[in-house]
Amino acid sequence: MTTAAAQPVSIARLPGPRTAPLVGNLHQLDLPRLHQQLERWAAEYGPIYRIALGRRQRVCVSDLDTINTMLRERPDTFRRTRHIETIMDEMGFNGVFSRDGEAWRRQRKVVAHALNPAHLAQFYPAMRETTERLRRRWAGTQGTALEVCRELMRYTVDVTAHLAFGIDVNTIETDGPVVQQQLDRVFPMLFRRTVAPFPYWRYLKTPADRELDRALAAIRTTVVDFTERCRERMRAEPGLFAQPTNFLEAILAAQAEEAVDFSDDEIYANVITLMLAGEDTTANTLAWACKFLVDFPQHFARARAEADAVLGADTVAADLDAIRRLDFIEALAHETMRHKPVAPILGVEPKVDIELLGCHLPAGTEILALTRPNAMSDDHFAAAERFEPGRWLRADGGEEPHNPRAFMPFGAGPRFCPGRGLAMLEIKAVLAMLVRNFDIALATPGRDVREQLNFTMLPEGLALRFAART
Ligand code: HEM
Repeated sequence: MTTAAAQPVSIARLPGPRTAPLVGNLHQLDLPRLHQQLERWAAEYGPIYRIALGRRQRVCVSDLDTINTMLRERPDTFRRTRHIETIMDEMGFNGVFSRDGEAWRRQRKVVAHALNPAHLAQFYPAMRETTERLRRRWAGTQGTALEVCRELMRYTVDVTAHLAFGIDVNTIETDGPVVQQQLDRVFPMLFRRTVAPFPYWRYLKTPADRELDRALAAIRTTVVDFTERCRERMRAEPGLFAQPTNFLEAILAAQAEEAVDFSDDEIYANVITLMLAGEDTTANTLAWACKFLVDFPQHFARARAEADAVLGADTVAADLDAIRRLDFIEALAHETMRHKPVAPILGVEPKVDIELLGCHLPAGTEILALTRPNAMSDDHFAAAERFEPGRWLRADGGEEPHNPRAFMPFGAGPRFCPGRGLAMLEIKAVLAMLVRNFDIALATPGRDVREQLNFTMLPEGLALRFAART
C-alpha cells in the first residue's frame, strides 16, 4: 500500500482499456483466455488499471508488494471476493475457500489439520496404491492417444475422495460413481457466474443452470448419505473418534467432542470444497508438467535418472522417504507452476476504504490480483522466460538468483493453500512413476497447446501417447 503524497485518484481515473456502453470490456475478452488478456493489459497499463465486465468495475493489480500485502492482510483488512461467497451460497456450499472472518477461521483450523504432514504420512500407502493403478492403466493403453487432463483427474479424484470420505471410488479402473460427473459440472458454472456481467440465473435459468441445480441436489444427497454411513461406522467403532482415518471422520469426531462448532451444512460444504479444490488444480498442474517433459527431453532424462536412482526396483515410490529424495522432480514441478500457475488470478477486496498504488478504493472494490507477471519477470527470476528446473536446486549451485516472494502458485498469507503438501506429494508420486515406466509423446505433434481458463487454467486438448519405456 502506498502513502503517496499526491492526492489519490479515483478508480475512474486509472488507466485501462477503453470501455463500451453496457458491455464494458467484455467484447474484448475471450473468457477462456481472460487471464492472458489481463496480463497483456498489465504490461500495457502498468501495476494497477481498471476494467469493466459489463457494468461491474474491477481493478487489476500486478505489483508484487501490493499483492503480498493484500494476501497477508486477510482476514482483517482484505477478504476473498464477496461475490464468490454469494455465488457459493446460492450453490449451497460455502466452505473454507469462500467464507470469511470467524466462520473461515473455524473451518480453516479443521481443514488445515486434516491436511497436515502427519495425516499425509498415514495416507501415503493408499496414494501409492492409486499411483500403481494409474501405471497399470497407462500400461494397458498401448500407445493410444489419451486426454491428459481427464486421465490425471481420475487420479486426483481417487486420491481426494479417499482422503475426504475414506471411500475408494476407483475412477482409474472403473467409470467411477455418478457423483464425479456431477462434480465436473460445478467448476465451469462457478467460473461462468463469477465473471458474468449480470446474475442472469436469478431471473432466468438456462439449460446449463438447470443441469447444475440437478447436479448440486444429487451431490448433496450423496454426501449426506456418506456422512450418515460414516456416523454409523463411528458408532460401531468408537476408536475412530480418537484416530480418524479421513477428513469426514475427523470433522465428525471434532463435532461430537464439541471441539468445533460445525453444523451439518458446514460439513457438507467443506467436503465438497476439498473435492473441488483438490482435483482440477493438481491434475492440471500435472498435465502442464507432462507437456514440459515432452518439450524438454533433457529434463525428462534427468527426471528419469533421478527416479531410477530413488525408486530402485519399484515402479512407484515406496514411501515418503523416497518422495522426499525426488529433488529434481520437485524442482520441475516448481518451474512448471512458475510458468503455468493454474490459479493465475486471485480475487480479493478491501473491507475498508483504502489507498492502493495511489488510487482510492472504496471498501468492497473487486480486485483481481495477477500473480504470473512477477513470476515471469527478469526482476525476480534470472532469464525468467527460460524453463529451467535447475534454478530451484541448491545442488546446481542455486545458480539463478530469484525472489521466492514472487512465486505464489499456492497464494500467500493466512489463506495460503492448505492442500499444498498433498498436491506436491501427488505431483511427485505421479511424475516419478511416469518417467520411470513410460516414454511419452504428443498425440498430435506440432499442434499448439493453448491455455484455457475454466476457473483453473489447463492445457487445452493436450493429448499424449504413453508407451512402455524402451
Ligand atoms: C497444484 C495444486 C494446487 C494449487 C496450484 C492450488 C492453489 C491454490 C490457491 C492459489 C489458493 C488460494 C490461496 C490464497 O487465496 O492465498 C488455494 C486455496 C485453497 N486450496 Fe489449493 N491448490 C492446489 C491443490 C489443493 C489441494 C490438493 C487441496 C485439498 C485437497 C486444496 C485445498 C485448498 C483450500 C481448502 C483452499 C482455500 C483456503 C482458504 O481460503 O483458507 N488445494 N489453492
